[in-house]
Amino acid sequence: MDEIQKNGTVKFFTRKQIPLEMHKVRIVQSLNLLPVEQRLAAMKDAGFNSFLLSSGDVFLDMLTDSGTNAMSDIQLSKMFVADDAYAGSMSFKKFEKSVLQVFGKKYVLPVHQGRAAETIISKTFITEGSVIPMNYHFTTTRAHIELNGGKIFELFAPEAMKIKSSHPFKGNIDPVQLEKVIIDSGPQNVPFIRMEASTNLIGGQPFSLGNFKEVRKIADKYNLIIVLDASLIGENAYFIMKREPGFENQSLESILLQMCDLADIVYFSGRKVSSSKGGAICTNSTELWTKMKYLVPLYEGFLTYGGISIREIEAMAQGLLETVDENVVGQSPAFINYMVQELEKLDIPVVSPGGALGCHIDATQFLSHIPQSQYIAGSLVAALYIVSGIRGMERGTISSNRDENGNDIFADLELLRLAVPRRVFTLSQVEYTLDRLDWLYQNRKLVEGLKFVEEPPVLRFFTGRLEAVSNWPEKLAEAYKKDFGESL
Ligand code: F0G
Repeated sequence: MDEIQKNGTVKFFTRKQIPLEMHKVRIVQSLNLLPVEQRLAAMKDAGFNSFLLSSGDVFLDMLTDSGTNAMSDIQLSKMFVADDAYAGSMSFKKFEKSVLQVFGKKYVLPVHQGRAAETIISKTFITEGSVIPMNYHFTTTRAHIELNGGKIFELFAPEAMKIKSSHPFKGNIDPVQLEKVIIDSGPQNVPFIRMEASTNLIGGQPFSLGNFKEVRKIADKYNLIIVLDASLIGENAYFIMKREPGFENQSLESILLQMCDLADIVYFSGRKVSSSKGGAICTNSTELWTKMKYLVPLYEGFLTYGGISIREIEAMAQGLLETVDENVVGQSPAFINYMVQELEKLDIPVVSPGGALGCHIDATQFLSHIPQSQYIAGSLVAALYIVSGIRGMERGTISSNRDENGNDIFADLELLRLAVPRRVFTLSQVEYTLDRLDWLYQNRKLVEGLKFVEEPPVLRFFTGRLEAVSNWPEKLAEAYKKDFGESL
C-alpha cells in the first residue's frame, strides 16, 4: 500500500476543505508581537537557540506541544477535586482506571514526565553492550539508552527519509532489518524492541497496526519484550483509522487497545498524550512491574503520585479518556494537513504526508546554499523568528551530538518543526504562519549559517548558544522592514 487512501482530515470540514474546530474558546491569553528590531535583539540574546527565548518575546509559540495542548473544561474541573494524599490517593485510583480503560494495562507507575519513564526503563533493562532496535530515536530516549551503555539501531524503511512522500506509515519498522539486527547482536543482548507512536523526529509519522503485528511476531520468535512509547499514540491511532485499510469503521478506543495489547510495556509523556503534565509506565506483567517499581520512589516520588501534583494526576486521568475522542486527537493533524497542502502550493519543501505534532519544513531544501556544518535547521528557526515572532524548534544536527572525535554527527533530516498543539491556534494564526514562511522563502538567500559559542556535552540543543557566521540576521531584518514598512 503506497498511497494514502483517504484524506487526512477530521470528518468535519467546509467545502474548501478547511478543518472545523469542534470546540469553543472560553479562556484566552493575550499575545505579544514585538517589532522586528526587537525580535532580532531577542534572538541574539537567546544565542540563536529558540529554547532560550522568553515566551513574552514570542508571538506564536510553535516550539512544542509538550505541556502546551489546550486543556478541556472537564480536565480543569477535575483538578479541583484532587485527593491530595502522599500515599494511596483516590485520584491515583482514577488514573489507574483510565489507563486500564484506554491502554488496557493494569499496573501503572506514575512519573513526572516522559523522560523520567525512560530513566527507569533504561536503568532497569539496559546494561553495557545492550542493543535496542527501534523505528527511530527520540532525543531524550537515545540519551538515556546511551547513558546506560546501550546502543540504538534505527530500522526504518528508506521511505521514512523521503521528504515528499505519499507513504501513509513512514514510522514503520523494516521487519527484515529487525530480524537481522536481533540475530547479529544475539537476542540475549536485546533487552527490548522500542516502537515510537507518531515517530517524532521524522515528522510525527505513524506506524501501521499491521507493521506492529509483524514486530510482535519477531519479538515472540526471539522471546523479546516490546516497549511502546505512547507519547503521541492518540494521533497514531487516528492515522490508523484514517489510512489503514480495515480500520475505517473501528473506534479510536478499539485501535488504541489493539496497539497497546501488542506491547509489554507502554510508557508516555502526559505532557503530550493527555494534554496535562506527568507521565507513566504501564504493563500487565507482574514481573516487569516488580522490576521497575522500586526505582519510582527513588527517582520520582511515592508510587501513587510519581513526583507530580495530584491535581495533575486528575488531569492525566481525564485527559487519557479524551484521547479516544477524534475531535481532540484529530484537530492538530487536520491543521497540520492544511498547512502541508498550502505550503506545497507555495512550493515550500515540507514533510509529507502531514503527520502528528507539527508541520515540518525541510530546511535542507529551503536553505540549500548553507552547508550542514553550519546548522541549516537552526538557521531557519532563527530566521523565521526574526521575520514573524513565531518560535519553532530545530530538529536537525543541533539536536544531534558529536562523535568520539568531536565531529558533528549530521542528522538524517534537517527540519524546522512548527508544533501545532491541540486546540491552541486559530486558522488565522496558521494563515499568518504561511504568509511569513512564503516571504522568507522568497528571501531565503539572505539567510546564512550559525556556529556554536557555548556547547553543553549532552542534549546540547536545550541550552547551547550559537552566533551567526556573518551579519545576515541584520540584513534579513532590514529586508523585512523594507517590504513590511512599519507593520510588525
Ligand atoms: N517520547 C517522545 C516521542 C516525545 O516526543 C517526548 C517529548 C518524550 C518521549 C519525552 O517526554 O518531554 O515529557 O520528558 N517530546 C517533547 C517535544 C519534548 O517537544 O517533542 P517528556
